[in-house]
Amino acid sequence: MKGFTLWFTGLPCSGKTTLAREVEGIMLERGVRVEVLDGDEIRENLSKGLTFSREDRNTNIRRIGWVSKLLARNGVVCIVAAVSPYRDIRREVREWHERFIQVYLRAPLEVLKKRDVKGMYKKAMAGEIKNFTGISDPYEEPENAEVVIDTDLDTVEISVDRVIRTLEMIDYIPHGETVGDYSEEEEAKIKARLKDLGYI
Ligand code: ADX
Repeated sequence: MKGFTLWFTGLPCSGKTTLAREVEGIMLERGVRVEVLDGDEIRENLSKGLTFSREDRNTNIRRIGWVSKLLARNGVVCIVAAVSPYRDIRREVREWHERFIQVYLRAPLEVLKKRDVKGMYKKAMAGEIKNFTGISDPYEEPENAEVVIDTDLDTVEISVDRVIRTLEMIDYIPHGETVGDYSEEEEAKIKARLKDLGYI
């Protein structure tokens, strides 16, 4: 099997880590060699000391993108979960790859503020965290993501299934049993998107 990078982007609390780990689990069950690069973890090691300025975020994303490229070209599926708010750097990193699939986790800010798993939105709104993505720092929405998920509407199960189905449809991963109840309408939607992007 050829490797590729599966890149999750979205605002804080949009579900990147959750979905990345779920997808990783399914890949492992199918015998796929897989690695997860998670923004929070990367900032504890590979990118330790970097801030959240535009420049440092770009450095962070370039580092993650570099590692993912190396893994992907060695037959590993590299799953990235990082806010990655800037379009031009996401594009740059995509260009380094032979095979790159982007998943955009879209959710209204109001929903994310309610989730606020680590209490960071609250702090950001109180001005205690500066340059917080979505509150006091920009997030540039992807325009050509292979998969778009509305994490306030789609369940985790459906979301994971959509990612897996997409990858199966373009033969990036071996086929297997899918998780949820999958409608024909959903299948048609995935197909239409992949057609638009020239995959099928
Ligand atoms: S990125 O912009 O460089 O892609 P990354 O994904 O590594 O961000 O890190 C985001 C995580 O750092 C968030 O999940 C959050 O827990 C934490 N964080 C701390 N400060 C900020 C901030 N100012 N903006 C966004 N996330 C922040």
